[in-house]
Amino acid sequence: MNTFEIENLDLYYGDNKALKNINLTIPHKQVTAFIGPSGCGKSTLLRTLNRMNDLIPGVRINGKVTMDGANIYGEVDVRKLRMRCGMVFQKPNPFPMSIYENVAYGQKAQGVKNKKQLDAIVEEALRGAALWDEVKDRLHTPAFGLSGGQQQRLCIARTIAMKPDVILMDEPTSALDPIATKKIEDLMESLRKEFTVVIVTHSMAQARRIADKTAFFLMGELVEHGETDQIFTEPKDKRTHGYITGDFG
Ligand SMILES: Nc1ncnc2c1ncn2[C@@H]1O[C@H](COP(=O)(O)OP(=O)(O)OP(=O)(O)O)[C@@H](O)[C@H]1O
Ligand SMILES: [Mg+2]
Repeated sequence: MNTFEIENLDLYYGDNKALKNINLTIPHKQVTAFIGPSGCGKSTLLRTLNRMNDLIPGVRINGKVTMDGANIYGEVDVRKLRMRCGMVFQKPNPFPMSIYENVAYGQKAQGVKNKKQLDAIVEEALRGAALWDEVKDRLHTPAFGLSGGQQQRLCIARTIAMKPDVILMDEPTSALDPIATKKIEDLMESLRKEFTVVIVTHSMAQARRIADKTAFFLMGELVEHGETDQIFTEPKDKRTHGYITGDFG
């Protein structure tokens, strides 16, 4: 079963064609990694999945992207789409409020007022992001008091609290030290049970450790995609081979 099906997708920033005829399926409740050198279009493709590119002036898209069978550039309500596809960015970006309020924010905005209900949502999300034990005694202190790695897990908790179907992550560990990175990688194991995860990463080692499927991009083209093991051990395309063996990029 696939969460996303991308068919003949082209994306232009003005005259610059940043994605060229992409055809890719993203399976349900698996981790898919996008890899490739800087500027190859990984973030751009990630953003087409929840229409974040709509916010950039001059963007033009041809082709089709469906989520659970519905055309996300057609019939789907963009606000709902973004709620179903949570996003985690490279730099942790907690809101300037308490840990608790960060996680409760989205549900409150949706009209949930009951304190018991919010408490339960906050605890569940913080547990889901493997942060609960570290913050349970300081829930009402500012989120900015957390370390970078904790802030990133808080952002994951904030995303989970909205009960999305999909989590899109753009280099979520590139600003973190190895220990904080490992905590996030360990977390992926439980996230994949509940969510479809798409992660952009510059670390091939990370893609190998956490991704079920890997897609390799070069200059706006999808060169190859498949089972992570296959991509890293028996790539079919010599450009993939060149990249994973470190000849370029
Ligand atoms: N907002 C934008 N406006 C114009 N061009 C853009 C914009 N964002 C990206 N591009 C261009 O689109 C191409 C793909 O960029 P993108 O950011 O998707 O690459 P990437 O693979 O995520 O790179 P990196 O690994 O450096 O993050 C690049 O040529 C880039 O310059
Ligand atoms: Mg990028």
